[in-house]
Amino acid sequence: MKERIAHICSFLCKARVFADVGCDHGYMTRYMLSKGLCERAYISDISEGSLSKAKALLSEEIAAGRCIPVVADGLDGLPEPCDFVLIAGLGGEEIVKIIDRAYLPPRFLFQPMKNSEKLRRYLVAHGAKIERDLTFSEGTERRKYYDLILGSAEGGDVYSEREYRFGRDNLNGNSPYPFLFEMKEELEKTSQRLLFVHSAGGKRTLSERKKELEEIIHEVERSL
Ligand SMILES: C[S@@+](CC[C@H](N)C(=O)[O-])C[C@H]1O[C@@H](n2cnc3c(N)ncnc32)[C@H](O)[C@@H]1O
Repeated sequence: MKERIAHICSFLCKARVFADVGCDHGYMTRYMLSKGLCERAYISDISEGSLSKAKALLSEEIAAGRCIPVVADGLDGLPEPCDFVLIAGLGGEEIVKIIDRAYLPPRFLFQPMKNSEKLRRYLVAHGAKIERDLTFSEGTERRKYYDLILGSAEGGDVYSEREYRFGRDNLNGNSPYPFLFEMKEELEKTSQRLLFVHSAGGKRTLSERKKELEEIIHEVERSL
């Protein structure tokens, strides 16, 4: 199993009805079913071709009625509400559109590929409680970084501006490591760019970014 998928699976939790929206291969649903984490699971994808991969992987569970494949845009078209919804590998804006059109799932696990800040703002503004909000990484040489957000529809939450932008567990010392590597790489890139930019505006923007990254690195290191 790929590192990213294994990492997402480690955050999957018990549910009655689970949905894997944008399932593509279906590995996460296979994990849910094989570990007995849900009674039944919907695998849904907007693309018939993508869904066919999950259908092949989960053919036995489909035949047994424990897994139901649906070609659908987001949660639209699923025949019943689901109490735990996974949406991984889509953009944060797309995830917001999907839940805004349907409902905020009682329990959710989101792994946005970009625009995590927009997703965090949407979730907090709509009364969600965010339980984990962290960056994890894949690879060692050229690391790739991914955000992961686990939470519940109810309970409410309060986020600071920096938490919206960078993820709460990354800043409070609960999940410092992949994030610290990412920030240090980002600082290195920003410092390099500063050497070659000539316009006053460009220099100012990059200097501000550099200062903020240094502050964040300092804060996270202090929390260790
Ligand atoms: C990059 S893959 C991610 C697959 C898997 N969730 C993962 O994290 O490895 C994105 C999948 O989402 C599907 N997709 C994109 N937009 C969608 C939408 N609005 N509703 C359902 N599926 C969607 C695509 O067809 C594709 O199979």
